[in-house]
Amino acid sequence: MRHCVSAVLGMTVLGGNCYAQPAAASPSLVLNNCDPAADGRNPCPQSFHRPREAPLSQMAQVGRMLFYDRALSGSGKLSCASCHDPANHYGPSGDTPVFEGGADLHRQGRRAIPTLTYLERMPPFSIGPDLGNDDVAPRVIGVPSTGNQRGSKTATDTASSAAHIVPQGGLFWDGRADTFQQQAGGPLFDPDEMASKPERVSARLNTAPYRQALLALAGPRGAQDPAFLREEALFAIGRYELEDRSFHDYSSKFDAWLEGKARFSPLEREGYLLFNDPQKGNCAACHLDHITRDGLPPLFTDHQYEALGAPRNMAISRNAVASYYDLGVCDAQPDGRKSFAAYCGMFVTPTLRNVATRHVFFHNGVFHTLETVLDFYALRDLQPEKFYPRRPGGKLDAYNDITERDRSNIDTIDAPFDRKSGEKPALNENERRAIIAFLETLTDADISGSAKAEDAHTRQAGKRQDE
Ligand code: HEC
Ligand code: HEC
Repeated sequence: MRHCVSAVLGMTVLGGNCYAQPAAASPSLVLNNCDPAADGRNPCPQSFHRPREAPLSQMAQVGRMLFYDRALSGSGKLSCASCHDPANHYGPSGDTPVFEGGADLHRQGRRAIPTLTYLERMPPFSIGPDLGNDDVAPRVIGVPSTGNQRGSKTATDTASSAAHIVPQGGLFWDGRADTFQQQAGGPLFDPDEMASKPERVSARLNTAPYRQALLALAGPRGAQDPAFLREEALFAIGRYELEDRSFHDYSSKFDAWLEGKARFSPLEREGYLLFNDPQKGNCAACHLDHITRDGLPPLFTDHQYEALGAPRNMAISRNAVASYYDLGVCDAQPDGRKSFAAYCGMFVTPTLRNVATRHVFFHNGVFHTLETVLDFYALRDLQPEKFYPRRPGGKLDAYNDITERDRSNIDTIDAPFDRKSGEKPALNENERRAIIAFLETLTDADISGSAKAEDAHTRQAGKRQDE
């Protein structure tokens, strides 16, 4: 175990991590001796555990073919890879806020397509005590029915709200699925996405080039029970997402920096410091960026949910209906608006790995550049007219994508959101630019070549089967 001594406070932080210490006066100038050196080096290089490299299991190999198989969809035209583009770190490659899917490819989805990278450590959905950077799946405890009990968290003390009960974990923007297997059934049968039907999937599984391999893995029951075989297929897709290195490559410049193999440019270094400074960006309070106690690389998410008050995106056609709201966590649960009211408007904190390759940001894809995202973080409550429309009477309609009743769930206490009208923004324009430069260090090396070849191969095989 390596110790990291703060130059400023003389405190020893155990656990192999080098967290910057909070400082009273001008925090951005106070350097922890594990912060990047003036020449961009990492003075405290650390190795971390990468997922074990092994050839794909049989199950994952079948999963890979399923992942690229368009014939599973209602239109015959969409595979998982159509939306989660392997050439773009399994995020969308286009800049439409949401994807057009469905049987006729003209049904608009309702949320931005997330990347599928770095989901392997996602704990199951639960509502429980905030354990900060513990990286353990928390125990599910009672659900409070009223009152927002969120506490503030900072980049140096991510567990400061330990007494608070928060939603965390789970897949999708609202946590409604716990496992890849459970998740994969979602888009496959969603009328707005792959729009398939169980019978269609079963018919395809019976004729696909991977049929024998799947049957061999599913055992005798697979041949007799179509529902069981479909479950096995979904399980196989999940194995692929878990096993294939392209979903968790940890090959970004930032990873190399952590290991002492790369240097930040001056701008990247400044961005890193601002990202971690509790008074400035404070980004690391939610987008965790330190190696965990167990030596696992940071995922840039704490797997928790927050309501940031993203503007309503009028490019999503269902938002034309004034009474329609996508309220995230509470909408994902049956009866959610009543029993989960404390969490209405909350969406998961996404990983920021590979974020610079995206063209749409936030759950509703309302932002199209990192510049606007950073403007939103710095200016949401200072220049709200930049982000929100006016009502017919002229009054500004701030936080317009959350029902009025639920607006108390919006985060106004964590920096950079804690500035009030008339105050200076937590981040000026140059500082915002520096943070973007840092975010650009989170992009993995492109290893999509083999994935693209796979896509072409399966398409060919699928075609032959379809003919
Ligand atoms: C038509 C576009 C589309 C297709 C096709 C599609 N997805 Fe998605 N996927 C989405 C969208 C949109 C979301 C976010 C939905 C939400 O949060 O409600 C999502 C979310 C996910 C997530 C959760 C990610 C996270 O960060 O929690 C996983 C995993 C996933 N998809 C895997 C798949 C798999 C596997 C397939 C193929 C069986 C697939 N998707 C097909 C659009 C698509
Ligand atoms: C209080 C927790 C919190 C803090 C602090 C925070 N974020 Fe986020 N971040 C989130 C959540 C939650 C979302 C998703 C919001 C949504 O979709 O409605 C998000 C979304 C993002 C996105 C869009 C990612 C995508 O895939 O769409 C970027 C980029 C981002 N944050 C960067 C930052 C930066 C840079 C900072 C510091 C200036 C920061 N965040 C501070 C919680 C936080």
